[in-house]
Amino acid sequence: MSGITQTVLSSTIFNVIGVCTAATILVKFSSLIRKYTRSSKLYKFAHPSQTGDSPWALVTGASDGIGRTLAEELAANGFNVIIHGRNSNKLAKVSSELQAAFPQRSFRFLVADANNVRCANCVKASQDDGSDKLAGVDFEAIKHEVEGLNLTVLINNVGGNPVDPIFMPLKDKGELKTTENISLNALFPIHLTRTLLPNLIQNAPALVINISTMTEDFLPLLATYGASKRFLLSIGNSIRLELAMEGKEDDVEILGVRTGRVTDVVGWKEPPTFFIPTAKRYAKAVLSHAGHGHGIVVGYWAHALQDVMSLLMPSKVKDKVIIDIMRRTKEWDDKAKKQL
Ligand SMILES: NC(=O)c1ccc[n+]([C@@H]2O[C@H](COP(=O)([O-])OP(=O)(O)OC[C@H]3O[C@@H](n4cnc5c(N)ncnc54)[C@H](OP(=O)(O)O)[C@@H]3O)[C@@H](O)[C@H]2O)c1
Repeated sequence: MSGITQTVLSSTIFNVIGVCTAATILVKFSSLIRKYTRSSKLYKFAHPSQTGDSPWALVTGASDGIGRTLAEELAANGFNVIIHGRNSNKLAKVSSELQAAFPQRSFRFLVADANNVRCANCVKASQDDGSDKLAGVDFEAIKHEVEGLNLTVLINNVGGNPVDPIFMPLKDKGELKTTENISLNALFPIHLTRTLLPNLIQNAPALVINISTMTEDFLPLLATYGASKRFLLSIGNSIRLELAMEGKEDDVEILGVRTGRVTDVVGWKEPPTFFIPTAKRYAKAVLSHAGHGHGIVVGYWAHALQDVMSLLMPSKVKDKVIIDIMRRTKEWDDKAKKQL
């Protein structure tokens, strides 16, 4: 091959690669824009049952923050709502406020401490000798409570970090805090989904939304939180495939939602910014993804921009940035605690 032919060939190859790369970026960018401008198809799940009963949604961690605003949005979109939390007084108050705001809907509340999923030994003891159920969440009782309702939406929203202190290396965390946090973010939602999935299939089309975090794969000082939120996304994918194996993939839509910083929640009431929406705005964004099929999405468009920026960062630089942010956040938190 002559030198000229070689030059022409390599420049053609580079041109083709360039055009393909530009086309891929363009397609990805336009699909990203489409994802954040399309309207919600939540109405698909707001259908009456065969006997004419109106639809219900269950939102966990709904006495405050994002969960509460999700409950409001669902009520505004035609659902009766069961709000879950751990404090019955607070739930009763929120429930009556919702009832006043949406008199045409019904509200119920469900009290269960999500930190407190029973340990394997306790479950085994109660199965072996029928010993009275040791303290812990009673999922059979929850199943019983929703039986007969036309439940079509489950939002696994409850979650968070251990508190006092929030930021701590795993080696210092202790067994109780570690187990409680995994219970809250992973075990509680998985058992709830396991328990309620038959009802949701029966009331198809139905929807399960799992609220996760955007930082699920790199959270020093919050290891149990990040890891258990990742578990939640992964389990959603497995359930989707299990449904597909039974030919029921279209019966229940499973949506994982990766979440960035949101304000107007417990412990964070700063004014909203470009990258930090209010819980209300965020809840609307989450529900705008409903009805468009299974998947994992970043809930809010400005968080998706942050996600793209972090993907472009070399991993060493990303690690350094994260360590720096978490170190400063911990120092800020320690200082704030001392001032109390
Ligand atoms: N806000 C953010 O910036 C952000 C970022 C990423 C991901 N997320 C995720 O979004 C979801 C909602 O967060 P949020 O900021 O709205 O939370 P939040 O304001 O702290 O509200 C949490 C809700 O969950 C309830 N809850 C907490 N622990 C519970 C337990 N052990 N048992 C039962 N209920 C419990 C709370 O009840 P009480 O009223 O009794 O406390 C409250 O209703 C969480 O899964 C969180 O991980 C949030």
